[in-house]
Amino acid sequence: MNWLSKIVILSLVFTTANAYSLTNVTVTNELTGDPITVHCYSSNGDEGTTSLTLFGFYWFSFDSDALTEKKFLCSITTQYGSGDYEVWNIYLMNNRCGNNCQWKVHLSGPCVQWKDTLVCQPWQNTN
Ligand SMILES: *[C@@H]1O[C@H](CO)[C@@H](O)[C@H](O)[C@H]1NC(C)=O
Repeated sequence: MNWLSKIVILSLVFTTANAYSLTNVTVTNELTGDPITVHCYSSNGDEGTTSLTLFGFYWFSFDSDALTEKKFLCSITTQYGSGDYEVWNIYLMNNRCGNNCQWKVHLSGPCVQWKDTLVCQPWQNTN
């Protein structure tokens, strides 16, 4: 193999590695009481609906570089409240959780782990 084909192969390997960015979004139920329902989706695909008991968690992952629209939402329904929340978008990626967004569902609404703190949002609909 000559040096030129070696360089071509090397740059192909690096381009492929850089173009793939695995992002993981996790939703954990930290609520006692009835199980909660989580349905995550975006224009990139439907991640399905799941029911979570206390400390049950659900995750989905995707290649964030390949997305046509950099946004994922989860519709969360609990006995205390519900709403549709953006669980991953450009802002969250750059300012909060990057490629590992861990959401925790609390009594007052969903919270995202940001370094050592939890950033919480209220329920959009309360019961
Ligand atoms: C995503 O995060 C969850 C929770 O930490 C973990 O169980 C799962 O293996 C992760 N998935 C990938 C593809 O890294």
